[in-house]
Amino acid sequence: MIVSPSLLSCDFANIQRDVEMLNNSKADWIHIDVMDGVFVPNISFGMPVLKAIGQHAKKTIDVHLMIVDPDRYIDTFAGLGADVLTVHYEACTHLHRTLQAIKAEGMQAGVALNPHTSVDLLKDTIQDIDLVCIMSVNPGFGGQKFIPSSVAKVAKMKALIIEHNASAIIEVDGGVNLQTGAALRAAGADALVAGSYVFKSDNPSATISNLKKL
Ligand code: DX5
Ligand code: ZN
Repeated sequence: MIVSPSLLSCDFANIQRDVEMLNNSKADWIHIDVMDGVFVPNISFGMPVLKAIGQHAKKTIDVHLMIVDPDRYIDTFAGLGADVLTVHYEACTHLHRTLQAIKAEGMQAGVALNPHTSVDLLKDTIQDIDLVCIMSVNPGFGGQKFIPSSVAKVAKMKALIIEHNASAIIEVDGGVNLQTGAALRAAGADALVAGSYVFKSDNPSATISNLKKL
C-alpha cells in the first residue's frame, strides 16, 4: 500500500518539523492539497509554501489541485518539484489535453473524481491516466466523514482499469483510517491519502506504519 499523508492537517507553524517527521517515517509520498476558494469552498496554500516544503521533503511529491483551470499552472508545479500532479475531472474541459501537458512536463498524471462523478466517465481516457484519485469526501476540508459508497466505487474503478488493460493506480482521499483503509484495500485501492488520522494521532509516524501494513 502506498501511503500519502496529507500536509493539510499538519501544524503550519511547524511545517519543516512535520515534513522531516514524514521523511523519517514509512510514508511513500507526501500529499499536498492546493485549493483556490473557487473550485472548493476553501483556500489552502500556494506556490511559496510548496517551494518551502520542497526544500525539505525527501519523498515523492503528490500534488492534488482543487482549482479551476489547472492548465495555467502545470509548468509551475513541475518547477516546484511535483512528481504526481492530480487535476479534477470536474475542472477540466479538455482533460485529454491536460493529461498530455502534465506528462510532457515529466510528471505522473492524476485525475480526481468528486463523489458525484461516475468512474465510467474515465473510460475514454483511462489509458492516458497514471493515477485515479477517488474522493471519499467532498473536497475542500480535512477531517470529514468517509462516504461509505466510495468502497464500491473503488471496486468499480478497479474493474474498469482491468477491463481496459490499463495501468492506472487507484488512490483514495478523504476520511481514511485503519478501518476504512482495510475496506479500500480489499476493494482494490493502491494508495491511501490520510490527513487528520495521521496528524491528529498521538504518534503520527506509528500511524503511518500501521496504514502501510494494510
Ligand atoms: C480534502 C483533501 C484531502 C484531505 C484529507 O479536500 O483533498 O487530501 O487532506 O483529509 P482527511 O484525511 O482528514 O479526510
Ligand atoms: Zn487531497
